[in-house]
This record gives sequence, C-alpha cells and structure tokens, in this order.
Amino acid sequence: MALAVVTGAARGIGFAISNRLADDGWTVAMLDVDGEAVTTAASKIAGAIGVGVDVADEPAVEATFDAFGETPGLVVNNAGIVRFGPLMDLELAKFEAVLRVNLTATYIVARAAARRMAKAGGGAIVNITSMNGVAPGPNAGSYGAAKAGVALLTQQMAVEWGHLGIRINCVAPGLIDGGMSEPIYSDPSIREARESKVPLGRLGSSEDIAAAVAFLGSSQASYITGQNLLVDGGVTMSIIAHLPRPAAVDTVGMTK
Ligand SMILES: NC(=O)c1ccc[n+]([C@@H]2O[C@H](COP(=O)([O-])OP(=O)(O)OC[C@H]3O[C@@H](n4cnc5c(N)ncnc54)[C@H](O)[C@@H]3O)[C@@H](O)[C@H]2O)c1
Repeated sequence: MALAVVTGAARGIGFAISNRLADDGWTVAMLDVDGEAVTTAASKIAGAIGVGVDVADEPAVEATFDAFGETPGLVVNNAGIVRFGPLMDLELAKFEAVLRVNLTATYIVARAAARRMAKAGGGAIVNITSMNGVAPGPNAGSYGAAKAGVALLTQQMAVEWGHLGIRINCVAPGLIDGGMSEPIYSDPSIREARESKVPLGRLGSSEDIAAAVAFLGSSQASYITGQNLLVDGGVTMSIIAHLPRPAAVDTVGMTK
C-alpha cells in the first residue's frame, strides 16, 4: 500500500482526511505538533502511524520524511491556525505565526515531498486553503492572506514541478461544522444565521473536505494540477443572492 502523509492530523479535518485515505487503501502517516494527540488519533485508524512534529521546523520535517524509508505518493498540507483580531491593532507576532504555519510550513513540507517525489517519478500534493483566501473574513488577521498565498504558491509549484510528474492542488473548505470552527457553531443563533446563507442549505463536514482531497490525490485527477477547489456548498460565490432587488423591477438597462 502506498504511503500518504497528512499534516495537522490529530483532530478535525486532518483526522477525517486520514480516515478517508486509509479507507481508500493508503498507509497513512499522521503528523501533528501535538504528539500525544496524534499518537492516540493514529491508533484509531488501521495501519496508520502518528508522528509528533512541528511542520514549520524544516530540519524536523526533513528528518521525518527520511525516517519514512519510502517516498510518499500523496502529501496533504492540512495543518493550520487562525489568530483573530482587527488589523488596526493585531500583534505582529500573531500575524507572523499564522503566516508561518499556514504558508511557510506548506512550502517546507511540499518541498520536502517534491524533492523525494521527483526522484521517484512523481506524486500528488494537496494543500488545504480556505474560502477566507478567496473572500476575506473580517478580523481574521493574516489568515486570508496566508491562504491566498498558499493558492498562488500551489499554482507556482504546479508550473515548476509538473514536468517532474508532481501534481499539486488545493481544497478550500467553506463553513465547516467541525475542527477549529467548533466554538463558532456551538452558538445556535450563529449556526442558523450561517447555514441560512449557504445555497446547499447546510454547513459542510470534515468528511466533505476529505472526499475532495481523496479525489485530487487519486489517479482520477491525473490531469488536474494548480487548482483551488472550493468545497463550500456554494456560499463564497453567492453574495448577490443576499442583496435585495425590488420585486417590481423585471427589466433594467436598454430594452431595445
Ligand atoms: N474548520 C473550518 O471551519 C475550516 C474552514 C476553512 C479552512 N480550514 C482549514 O482546514 C485545516 C484544518 O483545520 P481544522 O478545522 O481541522 O483545525 P484544527 O484546529 O481542528 O486542527 C488543526 C491541527 O493542526 C495542528 N497543527 C497546528 N499547528 C501545527 C504545526 N506547526 N505543526 C503540525 N501540526 C500543527 C493542530 O495541533 C491541530 O491538530 C486548516 O488548514 C484550516 O485553516 C478549516
């Protein structure tokens, strides 16, 4: 069975991705800065191993890849953090911490994977971005910029690494009922307000994201690279659906 690596896999979306990839026949290496939690999480998935590692620590990431003893066929950059606060007052340390885990660490892990995949004849990488990288969330600090950066970096990697047989894409989750958003959706009024804005009428699940990752990491996506697939029930593109227009207006602009 081929090896798949998932970062930020101790909980939330990363755990669901690991579960799905194991169901699809991958042997999964689950990486997380929370070593104890990822070891426990890996014990719940057949054949999986848990590794405690900070993905923003390049020597530690390189050592982790060396220790696998085989080249992964799929690497999923899922580890991410958010630090909220208005841009006017946000502490620089929070701004930079979010860039480091979401953007810089994605580069560190993707490059460690790609150097090895290039020698092995290719592979697939999937980076987890966010709807926040397409439409900015107020008070989300550098999170949206980091995720937009990941999307563009992914395109650049796709251009530079395509001839090496490496495909690299993003999955951009929308409003997800789980993971880091749990505290948001534990408020019933916020939950209802948000759900009501989604064209498909519900919040997304971690499993919805895992299904998209599984597809982009599989041979079924063998001609897809450099894409940022929004998995959001249609919410990101639906702003005009929420703007009123007088019912009496049935024509605008020139009529002939
Ligand atoms: N849940 C959502 O609503 C949502 C929406 C859009 C995008 N996302 C993205 O999905 C991904 C997963 O989010 P989640 O909701 O499962 O979050 P989560 O907080 O539940 O899990 C993230 C995991 O990443 C790990 N992690 C953090 N920093 C790390 C580091 N430096 N090295 C290794 N591991 C580290 C954490 O320990 C944690 O286990 C993130 O990239 C996030 O930005 C989530």
